Amino acid sequence: MSAAQNIPTPNGRRPSVSASDPPNHIPIPANTRGMHPSSFGPASPLQTLGTSPHHAYSTSPKQGSPFSQRARSASGAMPAIARQLTAFLPADYPLREEESERPNTPSKRQGKTRMLLLENINLDAAEFLKKSGYEVDHVVKAWSEEELIKGLTKYDAVGIRSKTKITARVIDANPQLRAIGCFCIGTNQVDLVHAAKHGIAVFNSPFSNSRSVAELVIGEIISLSRQLLDRSSEMRQGIWNKVSKGCWEIRGKTLGIVGYGHIGSQLSVLAEAFGMTVIYFDVIPIMPLGSARQVETLEELLGRADFVTLHVPEIPDTIGMMGAEQFAAMKTGAYFLNNARGKVVDLDALATALEEKRIAGAAVDVFPKEPGSNGPGFDDTLGGFIPRLRKVPNLILTPHIGGSTEEAQRAIGSEVSLALSRYIQYGTSIGSVNFPEVDLRAITTADERHIRLCYLHRNEPGVLRAINNILADHNIEKQFSDSRGDIAYLMADISGVGQEEVSELYKRIGATQANILTRLLFAKWRAD
Ligand SMILES: NC(=O)c1ccc[n+]([C@@H]2O[C@H](COP(=O)([O-])OP(=O)(O)OC[C@H]3O[C@@H](n4cnc5c(N)ncnc54)[C@H](O)[C@@H]3O)[C@@H](O)[C@H]2O)c1
Repeated sequence: MSAAQNIPTPNGRRPSVSASDPPNHIPIPANTRGMHPSSFGPASPLQTLGTSPHHAYSTSPKQGSPFSQRARSASGAMPAIARQLTAFLPADYPLREEESERPNTPSKRQGKTRMLLLENINLDAAEFLKKSGYEVDHVVKAWSEEELIKGLTKYDAVGIRSKTKITARVIDANPQLRAIGCFCIGTNQVDLVHAAKHGIAVFNSPFSNSRSVAELVIGEIISLSRQLLDRSSEMRQGIWNKVSKGCWEIRGKTLGIVGYGHIGSQLSVLAEAFGMTVIYFDVIPIMPLGSARQVETLEELLGRADFVTLHVPEIPDTIGMMGAEQFAAMKTGAYFLNNARGKVVDLDALATALEEKRIAGAAVDVFPKEPGSNGPGFDDTLGGFIPRLRKVPNLILTPHIGGSTEEAQRAIGSEVSLALSRYIQYGTSIGSVNFPEVDLRAITTADERHIRLCYLHRNEPGVLRAINNILADHNIEKQFSDSRGDIAYLMADISGVGQEEVSELYKRIGATQANILTRLLFAKWRAD
């Protein structure tokens, strides 16, 4: 259905378009409006979505139409009624023959959305998607580019982790693909720009492992303070070294957090529970949690903290932010921890500070260059600092495991599967890394002739005028559009659309010059 290849190159840009009605950026809002909860979709993956896509997707507005169902419900036979959006797909949407053979299939023209989950994605996520009505194939291993080119063609969405590469070739070979779920933090394995240009939304889960990192940092702070790893390693060598000199409680000590975002702020709460005083430095003013205090400069934090821990992103401003000068500015005998990104710290300078015993210990989980896979590979070729670091006492080296817990995997599975499901069923692109993030609040009117337009298009001048001309005879209840580079995404809820008009609307919008992907979603009555 992607029309991207047939459309002329954009010759201009337009700024973001403001909405006729302000958007609600919470994708599925809390039930504060007196609506039935099923109107908002699931609060957690453990609940199932009210409307199965198996019944929802229709390639024809006339067959299996929600309008006929509404007519039935409107007779009064269904007392409690809630509304769900369902997807309308174009008449040339590939049909699945087996659908027509299934009992209770409302229409031959209805297809079931198929998802392929690769790389042993968390089973709870697969279960949630199945319960939501999707047909899910769960595969343990990663697929190669050739396997994806051949095998992905029957799927509407794919879930991957870091080993499966979704290249431009894979995208070109799979024009039916609608969404990619990266069940991990990074999205480097996907050609994001090519995906957006072909109408494929990509989702990930950047913050699901924040708590896991924060807990590891607490463990490391105590371990460093008590020289735990050195004592343990001595015991393995048969050495009984019962010392208290240079070993400290963490109660009453000052923790300096650099970067007070998702991880830094959680760590702040945990550290205070241990009786630590928390100060933090961030480039933006952030409301402190508990009794923590924001300081004005990094230098001030370095001069006051007994433990300095980094939780900043890797961006040009932060690369090399901890070097010889900064280690020299730390209190003598303080400890240093980096669980953020490898390039943020000059590890040669850290090795020197440790060798000279200016700092009493360090924990390093991330490195400027990391081996691509498990197994041998963390060797001296990764940097001259590695042999030096191996020799210094009270140093914890870990293979980028800050966020690696079962809980984080489950949370990632739940967040990404929910984002995929919301995008497919409601058009919500919140959380997408390659689409503009757009959402509309749930449909609240009782108007039976209500549809939602989801229009991904090239970011060109005049697009809104063209679309609003097409919609001019109808009432646009709410509308929001945003752009991201060459791509723009418009969502609009329109009322007063007759059943017989839907197909024509779809064709006209899909034929606009800037069109990349047009979807029409409609509300379906259901009884509870
Ligand atoms: N070790 C692991 O396994 C692991 C796991 C998850 C995340 N991380 C990394 O941890 C880091 C923090 O993650 P997060 O989820 O808390 O990110 P976040 O975006 O929520 O927070 C980052 C904070 O750093 C601040 N910041 C940016 N530049 C700064 C600067 N120059 N000085 C001070 N503060 C600055 C931002 O304003 C923001 O408040 C990221 O680099 C992330 O990649 C590592």
